[in-house]
Amino acid sequence: MEKVFDALIDSFIENKIGISEFFLSKKLSRELSANLLTHFNDGNLALAGTGTSAKINSSNPIRGDKIYWLDRSHDNESENVFLGIMDAMVIYLNRTCYTGITDYEFHYTLYETGTYYKKHIDQFTNNDRRKYSVIFYLNEDWQTVDGGELSLEINHQTVKINPTSEKCVFFKSNEIEHEVLVTHKNRLSITGWLKV
Ligand code: OGA
Ligand code: MN
Repeated sequence: MEKVFDALIDSFIENKIGISEFFLSKKLSRELSANLLTHFNDGNLALAGTGTSAKINSSNPIRGDKIYWLDRSHDNESENVFLGIMDAMVIYLNRTCYTGITDYEFHYTLYETGTYYKKHIDQFTNNDRRKYSVIFYLNEDWQTVDGGELSLEINHQTVKINPTSEKCVFFKSNEIEHEVLVTHKNRLSITGWLKV
């Protein structure tokens, strides 16, 4: 995976947003999206909150996604493969970029048709442990008309990213303002943070 990590880090250093089109294999992406759909169908996903208290205001929500935290205790093979890649990425980042990451957290995310996440940054006001945001998309055959782009502000320019499967996006959690535009299809991903 070191070549893949390097490509992501180089793109992050150059553009403030690391984008790797082919980070996860097609096989792993498919397995993870199947897991996510199973959890969705089993009713395991919960509406995500904002800030540290999970305040949900359904008349004017900031975000409409539903989430389910990954955990090794699930004993799920593909989930563990994914977390193993994250372990390797943390070791690689700490060794090559002195990032000092000591922890991470990842959740499956599903945005149902018509939902979005308004403009925000990923660091809580009372807790700055989240240093890097990392997102993996799990949507095969995603078309531009399906919407659901990740839209980020970099140097006063807007960059829009389609949530196509195998792709990884990486940026600093306290710096980059971003939003998820309204999706016209169910939109699947894994979202997480590397923490100190
Ligand atoms: C988030 C987020 C972006 C995306 O969950 O904080 O900004 O593209 N996700 O899913
Ligand atoms: Mn975010």
